[in-house]
Amino acid sequence: MTIFLAGHETTSNALTWTFYLLSQNPTADDRLYVELSSVLGDRIPTVEDIPKLEYTEKVFRESMRLYPPAWTIGRKCVKDYKVGKYTIPAGSIILMSQYVMHHDSRYFSDPDLFYPDRWTKEAMLRLPRFSYFPFGGGIRGCVGESFAWMEGVLLLATISREWRLHHDVSHKVGLKPLITLRPKYGMRMRLERRK
Ligand code: HEM
Repeated sequence: MTIFLAGHETTSNALTWTFYLLSQNPTADDRLYVELSSVLGDRIPTVEDIPKLEYTEKVFRESMRLYPPAWTIGRKCVKDYKVGKYTIPAGSIILMSQYVMHHDSRYFSDPDLFYPDRWTKEAMLRLPRFSYFPFGGGIRGCVGESFAWMEGVLLLATISREWRLHHDVSHKVGLKPLITLRPKYGMRMRLERRK
């Protein structure tokens, strides 16, 4: 049941925000299309294409930085626990927010900017652990993480090679942070066929 529930709304929110961000950043959308055209030509992507879809993956990664589908996670402390100079008493609820960490300028310059190119291999190695954690971590981290990267990149590539999505400017965009980070008013988009 958890696999079913945790697996679909997260991915659909991630893709919704990704298409919204692309509609607001036409240069990134153009770059994405250049990559898709050169790697795929006229065919739909397969798993074998994923390593070549580098910019596509960066777009998905950057989108989950700005709009992490799981925007906060919680744990209950079962016994007194020391973190640095603090002692967290047993019974406390601790919240750790992806949204807060992902917008922290100590780790991401211009944190509110959608900038997929920030995700170089070097930058990823430099990032402290848990400054970027859309899939949580540790013993209860997301079991679907590899699957989510695969389906996210493949869906983004499959849709974007054929369609450009334009956000309807008259439609308000807001955050609805429930268990996942939903768009408060939905996301109204117009599809334009490429070419
Ligand atoms: C972009 C997509 C996804 C995101 C951002 C995401 C995020 C997360 C996060 C943050 C957690 C940890 C929650 C916590 O620590 O309290 C989690 C757990 C989980 N996820 Fe995902 N997830 C995604 C896709 C998937 C998919 C595709 C599946 C299954 C096919 C899945 C199955 C699960 C399950 C079963 C757990 C619970 C693991 C446990 O408690 O041991 N998720 N996910």
